[in-house]
Amino acid sequence: MNSSCFSGKTAVVTGAGGTLCSAVAKELARQGARVALLGRTLASLEGVAAEIRTAGGTALPVACDVVDAAAVERARATVTRELGACHFLINGAGGNQPDAVTTLTEFSPSELAADKPAGTRGFFDLNLARFDDVVRINTLGTVIPCQVFGREMAALGRGSILNFASMNSYRPLTRVPAYAMAKAGVVNFTQWLAVYLAPAGIRVNGVAPGFFVNERSKKILLTPEGGLTARGQNVMGHTPLKRFGEANELLGAVCWLLDDDRAGFVTGVTLPVDGGFLASSGI
Ligand SMILES: NC(=O)c1ccc[n+]([C@@H]2O[C@H](COP(=O)([O-])OP(=O)(O)OC[C@H]3O[C@@H](n4cnc5c(N)ncnc54)[C@H](OP(=O)(O)O)[C@@H]3O)[C@@H](O)[C@H]2O)c1
Repeated sequence: MNSSCFSGKTAVVTGAGGTLCSAVAKELARQGARVALLGRTLASLEGVAAEIRTAGGTALPVACDVVDAAAVERARATVTRELGACHFLINGAGGNQPDAVTTLTEFSPSELAADKPAGTRGFFDLNLARFDDVVRINTLGTVIPCQVFGREMAALGRGSILNFASMNSYRPLTRVPAYAMAKAGVVNFTQWLAVYLAPAGIRVNGVAPGFFVNERSKKILLTPEGGLTARGQNVMGHTPLKRFGEANELLGAVCWLLDDDRAGFVTGVTLPVDGGFLASSGI
């Protein structure tokens, strides 16, 4: 266990059962933080907690839907009682849903036809309830924990918040309008909250991961044989480092942004960790 700015402090990680934030939670615990793991599926949180405890760290899994403000407040009370007041909040919960994704990359007159091919989903067919779900998890699912845990941080006059944006925050990818709109909002909200909470001694930053394979994107980017789908090839064509990211390649950026000593004058930024994707025009 290292001595670091995280030693003996409480970190709350939402989406901690997932691909990227399980790695974040394990790293913060390795550096001495007591880590609360939030997500809806207790079993996946318990798996991460077991790994942390086996390595000698402290972890508390708490099942919680981050778009349910009352549930997040209950989670905060449990975390504060068991681990102490939150010092670091990492808002990793987020993602997309198939029903909020178009099958078309651009308008086709065929989507207006009564006899269009089964399974065709253009913009005009999108289910607004699913669209709303995706916007809510990626926006309110960040805002609510900032409100609940941020209030506690503000009362203590310290803290550091890290939000998860995306390449979609800068320019929307085709097919994912709800996710893109929501992740653009995350960057904007990160700036807004950084300005608002500066007098409270709280810094607010973000990371924007490029393409890291997770359970959902695996089906979109990779063939069953492990090759690249057409979309996967497209991503690779725009990624100068010519590979997908590994979760542990986010950890330097995450830990640095959270660190009050090394990044104490950094607030309101979102740092891309993307293998060069944003820099590349693809031409
Ligand atoms: N992987 C990438 O390439 C990539 C790229 C850009 C941005 N991101 C963003 O980075 C973050 C982490 O991504 P990831 O790849 O690790 O995704 P992931 O493996 O799907 O993990 C996301 C986690 O969020 C949790 N979650 C979803 N909805 C929730 C809710 N309403 N309340 C509480 N927890 C919820 C999920 O757990 P439950 O379903 O059990 O609740 C899941 O464990 C996300 O915000 C994602 O949008 C990822």
